[in-house]
Amino acid sequence: MLKLTSTEPHRIVTETLIIPVCQDKDIHHSSVIRKLVRQALGIDTFQGDKNEELSLHQPAEVKAKRVLFVGLGPHAELAPEHFRQAAGKGVRLAMHAAKGDAVLVLPDGDLGDNLAREDLMAAMAEGAFLSNHCPTPYKSEQKIQALKTIRLYTDAALARRSRAALKRIDAVCRGTLQARDWINQPANEKTPDQLARHMAQAARRHGVKATILDEKKLQGLKMGAILAVGAGSAHPPRLLILDYRPPKARGTIALVGKGVTFDAGGLNLKPTGSIELMKIDMAGAAAVAASVIATAEIGAKQRIVGVIPLVENMVSGNAFRPGDIVRAYNGRTIEIGNTDAEGRLILADALAYTAKQYNPQTMIDMATLTGACVVALGEKIAGLFSPDEPLRTVIEQAGREVHERCWPMPLPEDYQELLKSDLADMRNIGPGRWGGAIVAALFLSEFIGKTRWAHVDIAGPAHHKKAQAYGQPGATGFGVRLLCQAIAALQDEKR
Ligand code: BES
Ligand code: MN
Ligand code: ZN
Repeated sequence: MLKLTSTEPHRIVTETLIIPVCQDKDIHHSSVIRKLVRQALGIDTFQGDKNEELSLHQPAEVKAKRVLFVGLGPHAELAPEHFRQAAGKGVRLAMHAAKGDAVLVLPDGDLGDNLAREDLMAAMAEGAFLSNHCPTPYKSEQKIQALKTIRLYTDAALARRSRAALKRIDAVCRGTLQARDWINQPANEKTPDQLARHMAQAARRHGVKATILDEKKLQGLKMGAILAVGAGSAHPPRLLILDYRPPKARGTIALVGKGVTFDAGGLNLKPTGSIELMKIDMAGAAAVAASVIATAEIGAKQRIVGVIPLVENMVSGNAFRPGDIVRAYNGRTIEIGNTDAEGRLILADALAYTAKQYNPQTMIDMATLTGACVVALGEKIAGLFSPDEPLRTVIEQAGREVHERCWPMPLPEDYQELLKSDLADMRNIGPGRWGGAIVAALFLSEFIGKTRWAHVDIAGPAHHKKAQAYGQPGATGFGVRLLCQAIAALQDEKR
């Protein structure tokens, strides 16, 4: 739980007081905080550098059991992400101190001309909230515990101005943690049906309508691609539809998320080294479900529909095969070149269905789609594909604001021929391995009809092996903050 406080720093009673410190300039106004910062900088192991921290026990100036200083680096380079990270690190360190609470001090001194205090408040709140999470429910003994309360110290005027923003941050960050929990959950506890139910339940709690289509319904709808991918699993596929529909909705935004609860690769089985992590192959689905729920909580003006195909890509006597030809929802036939290119298949049905059923103004899909995208952009940046340049700009900008970065990738028309098939309307893979992320995106573009569409490939940033400033090792929840920010921007878009 995040709260704001305007109690003067020297009166605040807390386990841990967290103070962000700049290397070469005092950014705090309060004389007590300034004095503490001078004291910290006087100790030769702490210069206020990025990645530096220092803790003092019960200094006389304040009523905190300890004061944690977190370095921000040089003043000239300050950006909201530094504050997000500093708050995240501070909270993580506070969590190691057995129990209790922490108070973060929002700087109120000279921040230069480019940083608005509202943005710093938002960034610190986010970093603190996202850090305060222990994703190890299966361990018999928890090493650290989440803090019960986190307060953000700021003056009364800013506190008053920030209440609404803080509510929004609370919803979006809770969504991000929910997405992380879903993704971290092992595949043996999230079969397509189980995950569909979990997500539906969470959605209904927030007034979002949830519908689960089972394999019989999918057969009736002729979703041949989803059914093919799901055929090899003992746990049949589902299509989950989340529908947030405010009265007098201003248009519809549709989100489509890849939900492969485990990607063994199918008969094109993944080798050791690639298969272990594949419980995360539903990170797109998690981001979409959590974003619909968070936007409903915030009360978006548009109708937001989340369409989530859930399957397990396994090996069995019933599994689909390389060489099979399947018919997608829109009637197009697909020759299977590789059963491990399953994400694009389930998205094909889901995108075609969404376009036809909801005719949205904008449709965004999110998917851990290709290893090739990770090769291209690494583990921290998502690939962004869209033929619509303004939509690309909105998503890129949203990504910069929340530091979930997206890089625009091309959709060259002449590459489309890589998907040609001798036997069917198209194949699900190209002839070689080059440009894999682009080829996958071009495949998806065959199923969107005339809908304004963007595709975000999050195979890299969905997961981190190591701890980050505001995330434990494991799922990052990447995409929730991005989608919520993009939806807010689309609401303001003139069209
Ligand atoms: N789920 C994988 C992509 C992936 C890779 C996600 C690494 C997260 C981390 C996807 O279904 C896949 O297997 N893609 C293949 C496509 C290929 C067979 C054309 C790939 O990227 O190798
Ligand atoms: Mn695969
Ligand atoms: Zn996959």
